Amino acid sequence: MRIKIAVLGVGGVGGYFGGRLAAAGHDVSFVARGQHLQALRRDGLTVESVAGDFALESVVATDDPAEIGEVDYVLLGVKTWQLDAAIASLRPLIGPRTAVVTTQNGVDAPQQVADRLGREAVLPGAVEVIAFLDGPGRVRHIGGPGKLTLGEWDNRPSERVERLREALQGSGLTAVLPADIWVALWSKFLALGSFGAIATVANAPYGVLRSRPGTRQLLVDSMNEIKQVAKATGVELPIDAIDNTLAFLDGLPAEGTTSLQRDINAGKPSELEAWTGAVVRIGQETGTPTPLNNLLYELASARSQAG
Ligand SMILES: NC(=O)c1ccc[n+]([C@@H]2O[C@H](COP(=O)([O-])OP(=O)(O)OC[C@H]3O[C@@H](n4cnc5c(N)ncnc54)[C@H](OP(=O)(O)O)[C@@H]3O)[C@@H](O)[C@H]2O)c1
Repeated sequence: MRIKIAVLGVGGVGGYFGGRLAAAGHDVSFVARGQHLQALRRDGLTVESVAGDFALESVVATDDPAEIGEVDYVLLGVKTWQLDAAIASLRPLIGPRTAVVTTQNGVDAPQQVADRLGREAVLPGAVEVIAFLDGPGRVRHIGGPGKLTLGEWDNRPSERVERLREALQGSGLTAVLPADIWVALWSKFLALGSFGAIATVANAPYGVLRSRPGTRQLLVDSMNEIKQVAKATGVELPIDAIDNTLAFLDGLPAEGTTSLQRDINAGKPSELEAWTGAVVRIGQETGTPTPLNNLLYELASARSQAG
């Protein structure tokens, strides 16, 4: 069944997922800005992808959500530090049954949407893809399955989740409905939350950090803290969560880096507050000690501030 979806933030994630849905015939509107918006309006969207290139000669693109009106779904494709402004602009897209799907790394985004629109409006999600904007109107997907893991806030089965799953699957994407979306989000966070700050502070790629016994142990220690913070929020991660995360990291390209270290190295705004910053903050809120993450947060913040 055709879905009506607005993609707010048309970068690596929004461009790739929204592009595939549009190519499959769904009613997709893109909310973008600047030169990227101009290019989308003039030339459409071009996607170069390891799963097959495609081009959409004409797309619906605007910087004003009021021009789109109510939709079935909103896919939030902005960075974590852009969320507040993006969420504040969502209102014209929202009807009584609209679902706002979060894709941001970290665990904060669903609550940020819920604070403005209520929990019923949110479908917490996590994406697995490696994609980026390669110039105005151009997206490159260079790896990862193009997978969205999503669920209702309380994990109940629902028609809207099932319909979105079908739409994604039918568009050449992968959709996963886990038994517990919070376990899925925190499990993903174990990898990024630990690796992002350590890699930033060391300024080293996956291959170096996972093969040195000392830095490998730091990764495990950081993950243990994150696991305890998750537990303090009521999310019990599986007993093998850390082993599975290490196995996942061992499978990544040795020269690979996280977006956090790339952004901080480039002197750009970064997602540090939503990654290690969130571990520290939620640790404080729940009385869970996070000494290693406190240290990493301070060092990474200082690097970020130094430019
Ligand atoms: N890319 C990946 O491979 C990947 C994989 C897994 C998870 N994620 C997560 O997914 C989230 C999105 O990442 P991304 O890499 O797709 O980001 P991105 O490429 O930087 O794309 C974000 C886009 O949103 C636009 N935007 C921001 N605020 C906007 C607003 N209010 N109105 C209209 N457009 C707005 C930005 O425009 P400007 O440039 O003008 O700011 C940019 O084009 C992040 O939390 C990231 O951690 C990404």
